[in-house]
Amino acid sequence: MTSASRAPLKTLREEAAGCRACHLWKEATQTVFGEGPQHARIMLVGEQPGDKEDLAGQPFVGPAGQMLDRALDQAGIDREKVYVTNAVKHFKFLPRGKFRLHQKPNTAEIKACRPWYERELASIRPQLVVAMGATAAQSVFGKITPINKNRGRLIDLEDGIKALVTVHPSYLLRLPDAEAKAREYKRFVDDLKIAAELLNKSTHAA
Ligand code: URA
Repeated sequence: MTSASRAPLKTLREEAAGCRACHLWKEATQTVFGEGPQHARIMLVGEQPGDKEDLAGQPFVGPAGQMLDRALDQAGIDREKVYVTNAVKHFKFLPRGKFRLHQKPNTAEIKACRPWYERELASIRPQLVVAMGATAAQSVFGKITPINKNRGRLIDLEDGIKALVTVHPSYLLRLPDAEAKAREYKRFVDDLKIAAELLNKSTHAA
């Protein structure tokens, strides 16, 4: 895995609040650290906080979060039991009048933030990391990792931890036609069911 030292999530969250590893802290309201149980068996990784998350200080509480909650529920996964975080922990945006337009983080920003992901992983030691979207996959695998080629199957990380690649819930929100939306949403839920199955299996084996 990672050579990151193990610290409790509470310590990591406090340290990350003052992170200056890249320039994104300057315009963002706050660091949005991951949230969930210290002993979560699944860690979900998104891209970066959006407008709502930046203001609330919590990951996935806006429209993408609602989409994620619905899909987790349909896959049989209790969000309270999973750890939810982002590859990049500050909101990157372009101010446009009264709006803040989401900007995709670049490789330097993903790399600057990766130590936090590594430390979250070392702290929690989940059984499974779910990378949602290209930015998350780049952080989880430490390199650009195409979604379609890798999605929907368990991939070995180090130390017996598995990874699962899927799309980002915002991708589903952006799809213009209802049919594609329904189809892609179902695929997303099917991917999450792989995570649910892994959990059920290990519960029965325990
Ligand atoms: N999109 C993300 O990737 N993360 C969030 O927390 C919200 C939207």
